[in-house]
Amino acid sequence: MEQRKKIILTGDRPTGPLHLGHYVGSLKNRVALQDSCQQFVMIADVQALTDNADQPQKVRENVLQVALDYLAVGIDPQKSTLLLQSLIPALFELTVYYLNLVTWNRLKHNPTVKQEIVQKGYGESVPAGFMVYPVSQAADISAFKADIVPVGEDQIPMIEQTNEIVRSFNRIYRTNALVECEAMVPKFARLPGIDGKAKMSKSLGNCIFLSDSADAISKKVKGMYTDPGHLRVEDPGKVEGNPVFTYLDAFDPDVAELEAMKAHYQRGGLGDSIVKKRLNDVLQAFLEPIRKRREQLAQDPAYVLGILKEGTVHANAVANRTLKEVREAMCLNYDFKS
Ligand code: TRP
Repeated sequence: MEQRKKIILTGDRPTGPLHLGHYVGSLKNRVALQDSCQQFVMIADVQALTDNADQPQKVRENVLQVALDYLAVGIDPQKSTLLLQSLIPALFELTVYYLNLVTWNRLKHNPTVKQEIVQKGYGESVPAGFMVYPVSQAADISAFKADIVPVGEDQIPMIEQTNEIVRSFNRIYRTNALVECEAMVPKFARLPGIDGKAKMSKSLGNCIFLSDSADAISKKVKGMYTDPGHLRVEDPGKVEGNPVFTYLDAFDPDVAELEAMKAHYQRGGLGDSIVKKRLNDVLQAFLEPIRKRREQLAQDPAYVLGILKEGTVHANAVANRTLKEVREAMCLNYDFKS
């Protein structure tokens, strides 16, 4: 018997172009997994609106930007289904049903949401839609019966929340309609910012974008935070917690050379500018083909949006099948037609 292919679902909020942190945290895994799994990649524009309700134009424009990033890094529409969240109505109906299975207290203690509330300075004025986005994300994941969700570390609480909902649903409605999923977090789950902060994030302004020009990349690498105690070339330097080395660990294909460089840096006698030069070379080589492909695709937005449209048709068929099972389990299977 042929084994069922594992199902993958992931997504991104279209609030800006994607950066190296996205690549390391999940895009790389998505490209690697698309051959062996059935993959759905969602542009989560409705989730983006939970904290951008007053900026619909920004979200709309970034739908195309994120789609370009996906295609440029090698997510292949022949192998993966690309879809736009706002065009899948089943997701919003599922969200409403799931909201009854989650306590307000549980939502308040989601560590990622808590952190985002602080970062965005919401305080008590956090939009209700933002508070419940983990439930909407559970709908995204469960609608496609995803087995695997390749995401960065910060999304683990969303996967836990999803599995709690799935278990509650199946127990309460005596069904096995919904499927539990597993987060797939890579070794380099989190790339620090160029300023040395723990996370690369657009709102912190410390990103190297997949679409950055060669010039922008060199400037950013030159200005990167390193070991603040490494004042003179002769001084021994720290490799741990030094983002220049973390980036090299993530992107440098020549591991032996890199290890030799680390040893030299730790001994002393190796200047930051030389390490940064190496990082610049490595990143330029990695990003140039991505940027070229992106520029080419950007000339034909209709083609790119056509890919999303096609994927959305397929995604609706899958999500509607799950919704039908959910409604049946919940005694909502009325048939008033005719
Ligand atoms: N919350 C995710 C992020 O901020 C985006 C997202 C939306 C997502 N729906 C998803 C991720 C479903 C994985 C699965 O990056």
